[in-house]
Amino acid sequence: MDNTSNFLLLFTLFHFLFIAPSFAQQSFRPKALVVPVTKDASTLQYVTHINQRTPLVPLNLVLDIGGQFLWVDCDSNYVSSTYRPARCRSSQCSLAGSTSCGDCFSAPRPGCNNNTCGLTPDNTITHTATGGELAQDAVSVQSTNGFNPGRNVTVYRFLFSCAPTFLLQGLASGVSGMAGLGRTKIALPSQFASAFSFHRKFAVCLSSSKGVAFFGDGPYVLLPNIEASQLFTFTPLLLNPVSTASAFSQGDPSAEYFIGVKSIRIDENAVPVNMTLLSINSDGVGGTKISSVNPYTVLEASIFKAVTEAFVKASAARNITRVAAVAPFEVCFSSKNVLSTRLGASVPTIELVLQNQNTIWRIFGANSMVSVSDDKVLCLGLVNGGPKPRTSIVIGGYQLEDNLLQFDLATSRLGFSSLLYGIRTTCANFNFTSTA
Ligand SMILES: *[C@@H]1O[C@H](CO)[C@@H](O)[C@H](O)[C@H]1NC(C)=O
Ligand SMILES: *[C@@H]1O[C@H](CO)[C@@H](O)[C@H](O)[C@H]1NC(C)=O
Ligand SMILES: *[C@@H]1O[C@H](CO)[C@@H](O)[C@H](O)[C@H]1NC(C)=O
Ligand SMILES: *[C@@H]1O[C@H](CO)[C@@H](O)[C@H](O)[C@H]1NC(C)=O
Ligand SMILES: *[C@@H]1O[C@H](CO)[C@@H](O)[C@H](O)[C@H]1NC(C)=O
Repeated sequence: MDNTSNFLLLFTLFHFLFIAPSFAQQSFRPKALVVPVTKDASTLQYVTHINQRTPLVPLNLVLDIGGQFLWVDCDSNYVSSTYRPARCRSSQCSLAGSTSCGDCFSAPRPGCNNNTCGLTPDNTITHTATGGELAQDAVSVQSTNGFNPGRNVTVYRFLFSCAPTFLLQGLASGVSGMAGLGRTKIALPSQFASAFSFHRKFAVCLSSSKGVAFFGDGPYVLLPNIEASQLFTFTPLLLNPVSTASAFSQGDPSAEYFIGVKSIRIDENAVPVNMTLLSINSDGVGGTKISSVNPYTVLEASIFKAVTEAFVKASAARNITRVAAVAPFEVCFSSKNVLSTRLGASVPTIELVLQNQNTIWRIFGANSMVSVSDDKVLCLGLVNGGPKPRTSIVIGGYQLEDNLLQFDLATSRLGFSSLLYGIRTTCANFNFTSTA
C-alpha cells in the first residue's frame, strides 16, 4: 500500500468511528442547531418546537433549562415507524442511567413494551413524577450558522422517555411534553452535541414573545447583525450534589444549573443576607439556580424580606410611591414618578455579586418591574419562597428574558450577556427566515 491508500484507510476508519456512535444522519454536519422558544401567555411557560417520529410530527414542548431529558406523552396518538423501546441492560439504558427493567401488561405500543428499561419523567411545573419507558425515535431540528436557520437535520435514535397523558396536567395547552436541557448525558444539549460532534454548549434567549435557543457554539447573531456572545461575562456553573428532581435515586446529583451568588446589592448598597443560605450544603439545600419553569425569581423568606426592604427604601429615595400589592407580588409602586429608560423603568438596580466584586449580574427595570393595571402600577417581580425552600434563590423566566445565557458543559461555565436592550437588540431578534 502506498501512503495515499494508507491515509484513505485511516480516514475511513476514523470517519466510521466518529459517526457510528452518534447515530447522526447524512454527511452534512451542522455547527449548531436553532429552535424557537415562545412564551405561553396564560401559563407564562416557555414553549419550544421540535419535530419527532417517522413521519415527522411537530411537537410543542415546555422548555426546562434544568430538566433531565426529553419526555413526551406516548399514550395519545403516538404513531411512528422508527420508535424503538430501549431493551433492558442495553447501552441506551446505561447511558440514561437506568437500571430498572420492566414489562407492560397490555398490547404492545409506544410506551408499553416488555423487557424495557424505564426513567422517571418529571413535570417540574407541578412537581409530579411517574414511570415511563425509555425509547428512541427520530428527532429533527433546524441547523444554523448563527445568523439564520439552515437545513433540517435528524438524529434518528434520539433517547427520550415516554410518559402517560396525565403528566401533561399543568402544562400549556397544545404541549405534548417537556424538553430538558439539564446536565445529564441524555438531556438535549448532550445528545445533540454527541450526534453532531459539536461543542457541549447551548444558549438560551427567552423573550416575552418569540425567543430562541441554540445548541452548539456561537456565533449567536441577533438583528441588526449583533453577535451577542461578545458581551458575555463568565461565572462557574456549580454542581448540586443532591438531585432536585421530584423523584430520584440516592446519590443522583441535580441536573439543574447553579451559580455562586456571594452577595446582593441594591443601588450598590449591600443587602444583609444570611450567607449560609447562599451556598449549597451537603444535603443539596441552599444556593442559587437558573430556572425557566419559574415565571418569576423566588427568594427564601429572609432574603426576600431584606431585598424588598432595601428596594423600597432605595425607591423612596427616588420619590417612587409605594401602592397596594397585586398578587403574586408583595411590593408595588405607582408608575407616576418612574421614568422610562432604554433599560426599562428607572428603578433601583438589583445586583447579584458572583465570584468577585467585578463579576456582577445586574437586574435593571426591564427585568425587575412587572407592569400591572394599565401601566399605572409597577410591581417588583420577585416572589416570596417561604422559610425553608430547597434552593434559596431561583432566578426565574422574567428575570432571564432578553438576556442571552450560554451554558458550557465542558468547562462548567455560564456566559451571560446582561440585558440586550443595552446594545439595542432583544431575544426576539433572531432572524428565523430559513436559508435552506
Ligand atoms: C408481555 O409479556 C406478557 C407475558 O408473556 C404478555 O402477556 C404481554 O402481552 C406482553 N406485553 C407486551 C406489551 O408485549
Ligand atoms: C424544517 O423544520 C422546520 C421547523 O420545524 C419546518 O417548518 C420545515 O417544514 C422543515 N423543512 C423540511 C424541508 O422538512
Ligand atoms: C442562617 O441560615 C441557616 C440555614 O438556614 C440557619 O441554620 C442559621 O440559623 C441562620 N443564621 C441566622 C443568623 O439567622
Ligand atoms: C423628591 O421630592 C421632593 C419633594 O417634592 C424634592 O424636594 C426632591 O428633590 C425629590 N427628589 C428626587 C430624587 O427627585
Ligand atoms: C433575514 O434573513 C434573510 C435571509 O438571509 C434576509 O434575506 C433578510 O434580509 C434578513 N432580514 C433582516 C431584517 O435582515
